[in-house]
Amino acid sequence: MSISIRQLTPIFAGEVTGVDITKPLSPDDVKAIEAGMDRHAVLVFHGQALTDEQQQAFSRNFGPLEDARGGNITKAADKRLGEGMNDVSNLGKDGKPLPKDSRQHLFNIGNMLWHSDSSFRAIPAKYSLLSCRVLNEKGGNTEFADMRAAYDDLDADTKAEIDGMIAEHSLMYSRGSLGFLDYTEDEKKMFKPVRQSLVRTHPVSGRKSLYLSSHAGGIIGMSMPEARILLRDLTEHATQPKYVYVHKWQRHDLVMWDNRQVLHRVRRYDASQPRDMRRTTVAGNTMTTAQAEAA
Ligand code: OGA
Ligand code: MN
Repeated sequence: MSISIRQLTPIFAGEVTGVDITKPLSPDDVKAIEAGMDRHAVLVFHGQALTDEQQQAFSRNFGPLEDARGGNITKAADKRLGEGMNDVSNLGKDGKPLPKDSRQHLFNIGNMLWHSDSSFRAIPAKYSLLSCRVLNEKGGNTEFADMRAAYDDLDADTKAEIDGMIAEHSLMYSRGSLGFLDYTEDEKKMFKPVRQSLVRTHPVSGRKSLYLSSHAGGIIGMSMPEARILLRDLTEHATQPKYVYVHKWQRHDLVMWDNRQVLHRVRRYDASQPRDMRRTTVAGNTMTTAQAEAA
């Protein structure tokens, strides 16, 4: 069996066949997948009935997993999944859909905004790998937008204007934009803004991309309204349908994406029915810019 990749849109995203990712991979398979990620930025694998352990083992082929602490408001005692798994389902520890008014449910709605995973961390994520364990029948597509193509298509003036700009990212900005404004003192500390370059360069391909995210809520040296309008304009440009791949889930799909090159969001779905999606996250290895000195 050898890996082949079929491109899914005119510009990016690929469907991978010829590999069983529930089993250990050969070094050649790992190389082929990595090369596919560098080129396509999103890869889709069908029919992969993974356990959490198998998903973690597959993910570790691409680097150490990110430490998930600090990324949400769920208390350790309320977590449904073990360490190393990011729970992006709509389920509570009892396996049932979270009540509509639960804080966890309201916080998770933030995944419906265009974002890049962990852009609120000083060292943001490299890859995310999302496995569909229980399909939700109504809605719930995940959409991806190619930030390289979006950058390439900016006019020269805009490229010059944003060159060297540094944005501030925090979970409080993304959630705040949805009216989720109440945080404990501990959460405020945990969600302290970090700095990210607005334009980043891929370490392998050398391609530049826009590094946007719903978590971005300011730009260093700019007033907040000016910064937010600029970020909003850039995001509107970068998420036009011509830059987007829409993934319609089947049970046991695994989709992996490069957070350095794409934005993603999930669309609304039937929150009264289960949607069990489990993510592993491969850690990044570098900051995109220096952080501010601690006060
Ligand atoms: C994620 C995410 C979208 C989805 O896992 O990072 O944003 O489809 N998930 O659940
Ligand atoms: Mn996400």
